[in-house]
Parts: sequence; structure tokens; C-alpha cells
Amino acid sequence: MARKTFVDIGDSSRLYQDEARGTGDQAGAQTPVAAVPAAGARPAYRLIGKRTARVDGRKIVTGRAEYTQDIKLKGMLSGKILRSPHAAAEVVSVDLAAARALPGVLAVLNLTDGRVRYAGQQVAAVAAVNEKTADRALALIKVEYKPLPFVVDWEKAKETGAPQVQSDRPNVQAINDYKRGDIEQGLAEAEVVLERTYRTGSEIHNTTETHGSIATWEGEQLTVYDSTQAVHSVRDGLARALKMPAANVTVIKKYMGGGFGSKLGVNEHTIVAALLSRETERPVKILLSRRDNALCVGNRPITQQTIKAGAKKDGTLTALSLVNYTCGGVGSGDRTSEPLIDIYKCPNVKVDEWTVFMNTGASRPTRAPGHTQGAFALEGFMDEFASALGMDPLELRKKNYSTRNRGDTGLPYSSKGLDKCYEQGANAIGWERRNKIPGAGSGRFRRGIGVATSIWFGAGVPGTLADLVLYPDGSVEAVCGTQDIGCGTRTHMAVVAAETLGLEPRDITVKLGNSDYPYAPSSGGSLTTPSVAPAVRDAGLKAMERLKQLAARKLEAKPEDIIAENKTFRVRTAPDKTIAYADVFRDLRRETVFHGERSGMPNDKFAFNTFGAHFAEVEVDTETGRIRVLKYVAAHDSGQIINVQTAESQVIGAITQGISTALFEERVMDETTGNPVNPNLRDYKIATSLDIPETTAIFVEVSDPYINNLGTKGLGEPPRIPSSAAVANAVYNAVGVHVKEIPMTPPRVLRALEEKEAGR
Ligand code: MOS
Repeated sequence: MARKTFVDIGDSSRLYQDEARGTGDQAGAQTPVAAVPAAGARPAYRLIGKRTARVDGRKIVTGRAEYTQDIKLKGMLSGKILRSPHAAAEVVSVDLAAARALPGVLAVLNLTDGRVRYAGQQVAAVAAVNEKTADRALALIKVEYKPLPFVVDWEKAKETGAPQVQSDRPNVQAINDYKRGDIEQGLAEAEVVLERTYRTGSEIHNTTETHGSIATWEGEQLTVYDSTQAVHSVRDGLARALKMPAANVTVIKKYMGGGFGSKLGVNEHTIVAALLSRETERPVKILLSRRDNALCVGNRPITQQTIKAGAKKDGTLTALSLVNYTCGGVGSGDRTSEPLIDIYKCPNVKVDEWTVFMNTGASRPTRAPGHTQGAFALEGFMDEFASALGMDPLELRKKNYSTRNRGDTGLPYSSKGLDKCYEQGANAIGWERRNKIPGAGSGRFRRGIGVATSIWFGAGVPGTLADLVLYPDGSVEAVCGTQDIGCGTRTHMAVVAAETLGLEPRDITVKLGNSDYPYAPSSGGSLTTPSVAPAVRDAGLKAMERLKQLAARKLEAKPEDIIAENKTFRVRTAPDKTIAYADVFRDLRRETVFHGERSGMPNDKFAFNTFGAHFAEVEVDTETGRIRVLKYVAAHDSGQIINVQTAESQVIGAITQGISTALFEERVMDETTGNPVNPNLRDYKIATSLDIPETTAIFVEVSDPYINNLGTKGLGEPPRIPSSAAVANAVYNAVGVHVKEIPMTPPRVLRALEEKEAGR
């Protein structure tokens, strides 16, 4: 078994790898666990795992939550960035004189290094008294470009003789290979062999709130309000870029309208805002436009994945191979092989992955990078393979899914949740209603049901820190330098603190979204709740211990005999001996801080893996090629759910994105201009409420107490992973041909139907 990991190309994916996968220095943060407690029944909680409305829900829906663009500082200037219209060019000269001379313009910056590699790359920037003046100033900047040959079609970029995108390396680069067993032998042992190719398009994150930053200086101290998934990472990135101490940088994120991976690191425009602010000695705000969002702050890499596999007639997999060509513009593509390597226990596996450069903006992690595309191909393949084997696709999965890490590390951690997801999900959708043979129905409108599987890693990250501050007046503050990217982190912190202290969520004042608060990693890799909640729990347990000591002293009892209930402490052995919380808190005399840490974790990351199975029912109009999703069931093993209400929202949001990508979303590049033709929300289609069916979210009961003090795992990315695949498989079940390419636009559906007709 050999696994060679190539260095990732592109800063944001590197950042993601390091932070979320723990492949950097942080890998050492994983600590081995000596004894593994037996998985038993889950503890009975009062609030955890129940429904709690968002503590900030009212504020958000009434428009009082402050997003970056709502923040107004005294004397604030408008910053704007001039971007290259060319996909490849030499920048011969930049003349800033006219812009600089315009009244109301306070600073102008040349940002180019002389070369442009994608349309939308920054060239110059201005700061002016208002937006209008800034726009006028941009128009006055004279840039002389020498346009160069470019390529914005990844298949053409892959050909010999294509314009070379990077100056120092060819357009095609190996990014990953993996091997276990012997693929040739596995294919030779097989009784049925199948090969299929699947394609996924480029998706734009299109966060509701576009990226934005406000920078302001007080002497040597920089404060930045940023729409970010990672206040600490942006702080460190700014300090590096500006060559200043990280201690002098504070990054604040209050509320955010989505990130999905596009807001993980420090952005170029954030650095520009800081530079313009330093020069003008006034706060500077830069907000990106919807068009900018399509050009220069990330996209999901394109993939073309060819899977070849072999199995015995009874469905036992003997060989599984993948060749992936992926493209993330001037950045790296995504490795899509993890689902294929980890979900099924095939002994012979071979993977080769290549990234292709082209002249479009760099990719960024996009909600379950690699896994979303990988699941679409792998799970589509499993359905086509099931047909070739004459098997029920669910049976084929059940026969082959793995409960162990690749190759088995010998550690006793295993998945206990996937079987339950398959079973409970299948019951909820009515699996027996599917076409036993894909495409068996007749008539213009055909219905079908599909399934798809997900696995998502949960890797080691540096321990999250959280503080609980208890005040003598009885108030409680939960503080953590994490950020709520929309999943409900404030509520989760309040729920866990309240549960542990015997209070109500509204009794807890939550503070987050500030890099001056205790460290928490980027909100990426679905690690926010499973790292923040245990840290708050840890602080809460410590606080409770202290409170019980104080109560015991007052009640003349032993601390272990103290029970906390209804904001009262009482003595187990003497029921009339009670004291109110307030009287105990007062004994703290001053505010007292309890530091919480995320507990150590086993060194087998498989223990943190989350599992899921999605089931979709669709109807296909075989005359127009239009697909409607009728019903959807998502079953997940994410360990202990902290709040069922926000967890359900997370699942519904992910399914909305999955359906959207399955049916509509794709950036389309114009080969003559090198620009996208749909950099807006009119031409780039996104699912609306009318496209989203009745959805059931199931959280299966699995107790994994060794994961952390709450047994909680991630749920940010997991429901995004199989959602496009489940829809595509339902279409396959309906019409008997797999469309094999997302988005499954009507022309693609009709083409697939024609090919089926023609017997190709
Ligand atoms: Mo992400 S793609 O973990 O925000």
C-alpha cells in the first residue's frame, strides 16, 4: 500500500489541506488514545440533541444582524479594484496620473507584477470619497496590455501546443496517485468488468453575501472587518503580507452570508483595503461585485473521471480504478479519489489524478472539495455496475461498503453508522417503489428513485479553545475565536454551555468572530461544531466543578453530593438543603474564567469520518429533458447532533446546493473573450424554493464516545457530498440511461436519451 501525496498547487487549497486535513504541522496535534471506551447508549441531555431556535434568528430575519457591508466607520472611503479584461496579457504600462488627479481620490495603487493569467486579475486600485468617484477614477486609469494567447477550455489546455498558463511548468501536472493490491490481478479475477466516464462542471460559490473587507488603522494597530470563514487565518495572512506582527492585527467577522469554502484565507482585496487605508489614514471598504465573485474568488474545479472496475457475479468488488483529470483554472484541481479509496473495501485499487491549468481564476475549496465530484462519479458508477451485475444498487453497496480505514490500521475504530443510514433512508423514501430495472416505466413522464453514499473525513486540527466567563451577578459569557458561517455556531455554543451549567440558552451571552478571542481553526472541513462544542463543554464541566465546590461549602456537604437543577444546587442526601445559583455565583466575587479545550483525539482519522446515504425521487420529462425532484431523504451519521433544528437546516441547504448543481449550475466560458458568459445570477442558474422538494433529514443514533467529550462529528459538508449523485441516480432509475455529466441540463438529458435509443 503506497500513498504518495503531491504538493498542492494554489494557496487556498494548500491552506485547506493543512488546516482541515491536518497534514501540516498540526498533524502532530493528534494524540493516541490508549483505551477505547465501549460504544453504549447516548447520555440523556436536556438541550443537546433537541430543537433550539437560533439564539440570533430574530436578529437575522429582521435585518438587524450586521454583515460586513452594513458596517460604516467614520470617514470611511470606498475602495475599488481595476481588473484585467484579458485572460492572458503582458501589462506594458499602467498610467495612474489622471485617476490620481481626480478630486475626491485619495489613493491609487499599482497592483500588477507585469503579467495577467486570467480575466479578473487585479491590476490597480483606488480609494475615493464615494463609490461613484472611485468608479470614475478606475475609468481614468490607462493600462497598456499586450494580449497573449490564452486557453479557457480545459480539454484544449490539455493538448500539446496549447498556450502555457504558468511560466514555470506545463499545463498538465500529476497531483495524486494511490495504489493498494494489484489492479491487473483484480480485473483478471473479475467476472464482470465495466468502464465509464463522468464529468462535472465548474460551479461558482455564489455566496449570498459577496466578499467584502473594511480596514482601519490606529497607529500600528490594524483592524479588519471581513466576510471570512477564518478570522485567525486572515489575521496571520495579513500580518505576513504586510510584514507586521500578528499581535497588531485584529480580524472581526460578525454575521456572514455564506462562504462554502470561498472565504477561508486572506483575500487580495483585503490586503489592498489595508494598504489603501494605511496610505489615506482613513477606513477603507472594498466590496466585491457579483461579477468579481465569478472571476476571482474561487470556483469548484471541473473533473472528468474514468472509473474501471471488476466484480464477481455476486457483486464482490475485485478491482476499482480511477483516472481523474481536473481543472481549477490557474489554481489546482480537486483530488476526487477519497470516496473511491475509502467507501468500499475492494482489495485492488489504483488511482491517478492530474490537474490541468487554464486561464481562469483559481479554484477554491467548495463545500466538500473533491468528494462532491468523486461521489457523483463513484456512486453513478455503482448504479451502472449494479445493472450490469443484475443487482439492486443498494444491495451492491451493502455488500461492499467498508467499516474500516483503507488497509485497516489495526485500531478498533470503525463505522457503525452507514448501515443504519442505508436502512432508515431506504425505508423513508420507499425504496421498494423504484424501477427494478432502470427505465422500466413508459410514457412521457418517467419517475425513478436513486441512492448515493457519502464519507467525509474529520481530521486532526489544533485544539479549539473556548472560555466560559462566570460573573458574580450570575451572568455567563461563552467566548471563542471561531466564526458562525451560517450553521448556527452561536446557538451551538449557547446550547452546550447552558446544558452543562444547568441554564437556558438565552442565559448565555455568546461572543465569537474576533481573532483576539481564544483560538479556533478556520470554519472549513466541517470542523466548527465538532471542535467548538467540545471546547465549550470542557469549560462548562470545569466551571460546574468549581460551582459545586462553592455550593458544597455553603451547604456543608461533599462536592460529589451536589446536584445542579433548575438554577438551584441541592444535596443528594438531604433534599431540603438547597441554595440558589445566584448565591453561589456571588461567591466567585469577581468574574472567573474557565478555559475549555477540545479534548485529545484518536490517531485514526477514520473514527471521525461521517457517513451518509441520500435518496432522491425524480420525474423526467422525456420530451423536454426537464427534471423535477419530487422527494428527498438524507440519512446521516454525524455522531451526537448538538441542535436538531440547525442540523436540519444544514442538510436542507446542502441538498438545495446539490440539486442546484445536479440540474442548473455551471460557469460557461467564452473562448473568444476569455471571460465567463454568465457572471451573474440571471444567467447562472441557482435552484430556488420551487425546485426543492419535501425533504426528510434522519440522524442515525450512533454512539462514538471516544471522538470527543460529546461524540459529535461534522455536518457542514457531508450532506452536500451525495446530493448531486443521488439525483443523477434517480434520473438513471427513471429513464435507464445515466446522464454522466452535471449539470444535467435538458440538452444533455435529451442527448443521453437519444444515445440510449440508438443503442450506443
Ligand atoms: Mo469548506 S469547502 O470546508 O468551507
